[in-house]
Amino acid sequence: MQDVSVHYELNNTLGIIRIDNPPVNALSQAVRAGIIEALEQARSDSSQMLLVLCAGRTFIAGADITEFGKTPQPPSLPDVIAALEGFPKPVVAALHGTALGGGLELAMACHYRAALPDTRLGLPEVKLGLLPGAGGTQRLPRLVGPELALEMISSGAPITANKALEAGLIDQILEGELEPAAIRWALTLLADSAPVRPTGERPVAAPADTDFLARHLKQNARKHRGQLAPGYIAELVELAQNASLEEGLKRERECFLACKNSPQSAALRHVFFAERATGKLPDIPADTPLRPIKRVAVIGAGTMGGGIAMCFASAGIPVILVETAQDYLDNGLDKIRQNYANSVKRGRFSAEAVAGWLDNISGTLDYADLAEVDLVIEAVFENMAVKKEVFGKLDAACKPGCILATNTSYLDVNAIAAATRRPADVIGAHFFSPANVMKLLEVVRAEKTAADVVQTFMKLARTIGKIPVAVGVCHGFVGNRMLRAYARQAQLLLLEGATPSQVDKAMENWGMAMGPLAVGDLAGLDIGYRSRRDQGIEPRSVLESALADTLVDMDRLGQKSGAGYYRYDPETRARQADPEVDKLLRDIADEWQVPQREIGDEEIVDRLILALVNEGAAILQEGIAARPSDVDIVYINGYGFPSWRGGPMFYADSLGLDTVVARLRELRELTGDDGWEPAPLLLELAAAGNSLASLNGRV
Ligand code: 3HC
Ligand code: NAI
Repeated sequence: MQDVSVHYELNNTLGIIRIDNPPVNALSQAVRAGIIEALEQARSDSSQMLLVLCAGRTFIAGADITEFGKTPQPPSLPDVIAALEGFPKPVVAALHGTALGGGLELAMACHYRAALPDTRLGLPEVKLGLLPGAGGTQRLPRLVGPELALEMISSGAPITANKALEAGLIDQILEGELEPAAIRWALTLLADSAPVRPTGERPVAAPADTDFLARHLKQNARKHRGQLAPGYIAELVELAQNASLEEGLKRERECFLACKNSPQSAALRHVFFAERATGKLPDIPADTPLRPIKRVAVIGAGTMGGGIAMCFASAGIPVILVETAQDYLDNGLDKIRQNYANSVKRGRFSAEAVAGWLDNISGTLDYADLAEVDLVIEAVFENMAVKKEVFGKLDAACKPGCILATNTSYLDVNAIAAATRRPADVIGAHFFSPANVMKLLEVVRAEKTAADVVQTFMKLARTIGKIPVAVGVCHGFVGNRMLRAYARQAQLLLLEGATPSQVDKAMENWGMAMGPLAVGDLAGLDIGYRSRRDQGIEPRSVLESALADTLVDMDRLGQKSGAGYYRYDPETRARQADPEVDKLLRDIADEWQVPQREIGDEEIVDRLILALVNEGAAILQEGIAARPSDVDIVYINGYGFPSWRGGPMFYADSLGLDTVVARLRELRELTGDDGWEPAPLLLELAAAGNSLASLNGRV
């Protein structure tokens, strides 16, 4: 049976082109061909105007991303769009849901546009390492002016229907049901003899601020560092002001193809699908019945507990916070209020929304108040004895079927589960700090965790706006275990002759959001110090923590004490290299007899990133993560890994596993450290000429 995704129908004077390509009406080859066919029909029938709209939950959400790696099949999207814009009868588009990317470009080529009030309109291509490749960079400035166009295209963020109306991107907001409202609107235009009105023939309005482009480039220099698309986008918006539509479209096509064929876009497309794949668990059927989660409790109103409570409250789920003393509870609740107030001040949320969310949060000192909750998340001190005591109390207080989750960073979730009589209901929920902001959530499956508990948590995570990744139990799960291997290399490099600034700059230039030592200073060096103590590791007894321990003993705890690996300007918090640290490093290296040498940036990047790759491969082999793409998502969303490099596992594939194995062996040779022995999984895959990505399909 032929897949018909575009339907054409003549409704008196109106020709209706209805696109129906679930789930998001992406512009696949069949859709593009269907639109051309519909235009052919409409050209010679008695229609006086064409109306384009979509079935299902949304207007076209863009080009079909799955087609990008393949040989393009005609008709091309620019050809479809040119046919719409050049059509001799007026063409109007009625939008709903999300009109994104190629979908918005198609709408902009129509002569008039209307949208339901909750429609979002945007050009998110930059998030896929692309730029709008079907006229978006040339038509959007003609409709909304170059400043807003640049902002929309380079941020990729959508705007609301109201803003679109105000800016001139649409002509009308539709009220009521899409199709009848759209038909009424189209007939009004027809009655008014609305003429054909090609967007491409409009001039670009002069910008209010003639310096907007230079200012934009300066403001975004850091954010766009290393990326291909943002530079082209600025060039193209400028071109829209100075060149003909034809010239602009020609250059846009060249830039689009350069981006589409770039490793950056391949990486970002991988990330797009990888993010959506995390919820598909190899051993748990997608239709596993979920446990209803209507009320939640969070134990501990500290840094993490407060943030976790906000996640639920903001999603409309009532939360009870539990503390050991009224003071601690009051402090925790105050922090939450402050956090919300700050987001209102910054314009992120409205005061009314926040007031409603605050109403969802209550506090108690009494575990008896937890009898009716469906889920508890424990976020008390990172100490096994305390956690076991809390889980024992929860076991006694909570109803059967209540899910008991721990936010532990490192502790053994199996041991915590064993403190209850219901280990099947116990799971790890490793949020990242600040919990109300960070998207990543490691969902830790313990040995006895029930399948429906895992599935419920994976779905719930999406409800509260998180990207969940299922992981197994080991010290540090996926993210912190990899971080440890990475941070260890940073410490060893310092002792071998690199400086903190050199290590951080090399990693930041490579694309990491922040270098490892600056991250240490931000988090506080006392955290690792305490954690090592808890594990029975004496201060300064281990080479790779000798420097950090020494700094803590000198009260250099990082940013909060004004100094750590760096000194910090008390006003601006700008970091400054500190010769005292360089001297300390030389002393420690002498004490441990580590020879110092010149170290290049390339070695720094290789050692830190290949440490991640090798540890990630070990994690996969042990089954702690289900797929390489899951590891990528953890590292991108939790640790500032550049998404345009696709994550550590994708990056390893892009180097080639043969190259990775050879480099790991060279590093072992260079450093004498057996830790560089390539993980058996890498050896196996490399020997078979396979990639890590070949394991992504095992769902
Ligand atoms: N192409 C192919 N598949 C797509 C797609 C697209 N553009 N957009 C979404 N999908 C798929 C998803 O992979 C997912 O598949 P799955 O169910 O098998 O996992 C399914 O559609 C549903 O997507 P979501 O889970 O993301 O659904 P949501 O309701 O949460 O979000 C959305 C919907 C806001 C449309 C979101 O999917 C999205 O942002 N899509 C991408 C939009 C985009 O980037 N468009 C620009 C494409 S590039 C382009 O247009 C180039 C042009 O300028 C030439
Ligand atoms: P915190 O010290 O800020 O907060 C802990 C809170 O728990 C305190 O307010 C304390 O009064 C309370 N508490 C202690 N025992 C309690 C009990 N028996 N009943 C009720 N409340 C009790 O600690 P933080 O940083 O919030 O960490 C909590 C957990 O989250 C730890 O397991 C930690 O490893 C984990 N975590 C921390 C991250 C971070 O960046 N801070 C990141 C991810 C996980």
